[in-house]
Amino acid sequence: MHRCLENLRHRGVEAAVTPALSPHDAQSFIAAGFVVLEHLHLLAYRLDQRADHAFLTADTRTAETRSRSLRDGRPWHRRVVLDIDRRAFEPFWQFDTNSLAEARRATPTSHYRVAVEGRTPVGYAVTGRAGDRGYLQRLAVNPDRQGEGLGQALVHDCLRWLHKRGAAHAMVNTQERNTRALGLYEHLGFVRQASGLVVLRWTAS
Ligand SMILES: CC(C)(COP(=O)(O)OP(=O)(O)OC[C@H]1O[C@@H](n2cnc3c(N)ncnc32)[C@H](O)[C@@H]1OP(=O)(O)O)[C@@H](O)C(=O)NCCC(=O)NCCS
Repeated sequence: MHRCLENLRHRGVEAAVTPALSPHDAQSFIAAGFVVLEHLHLLAYRLDQRADHAFLTADTRTAETRSRSLRDGRPWHRRVVLDIDRRAFEPFWQFDTNSLAEARRATPTSHYRVAVEGRTPVGYAVTGRAGDRGYLQRLAVNPDRQGEGLGQALVHDCLRWLHKRGAAHAMVNTQERNTRALGLYEHLGFVRQASGLVVLRWTAS
């Protein structure tokens, strides 16, 4: 690790950020000089424990969303999707073209969905699956359209996709201070895990 950080220094890299790590995995980074940038809640939904999942029967076309529908994300959605992401997240967490592509490539299979109003995206979600585990990698709704059921419709769609493919668990993480996302996930049956995750930062100086 130290050699790796020295290498970064020599190359003029001033800062580095880890992905979300378990407290155990974080230890060696902290020993090497990384500090905690953000604490995240980790939540899990058991897809294998019951049969009466709300997402199996939920009508995603609620009164508020009747004129909207979910469809597979396409290359021509990208500009508006990234604009929604920029408006929904604070600068540090915002996606660009590369991070959107990376989120979709992070697992062997992934599901990229947009909620559209007419033909215009107003929200999107990226879900991934690796073995029996599913991950809600990204979820964002246009701030002008929040509180109208789109977040719930996108999460239900994610759970339906994972359930159909035999995943046993769906995982999601969110910043501890993101009470809206936390409220949505818990409302939909996700359970907060005892141990969360951390994102760490290293600075060269
Ligand atoms: C989080 C986010 C996706 C939610 O999208 P949304 O479209 O506003 O969510 P919905 O309207 O579907 O909310 C669904 C329901 O969840 C429940 N819910 C939402 N927030 C809640 C809260 N704080 N407490 C309890 N229940 C809550 C409610 O039942 C809500 O319906 P209602 O408030 O209309 O009765 C959206 O706020 C967003 O894009 N935030 C910024 C990006 C972000 O944080 N993404 C998630 C990162 S992990």
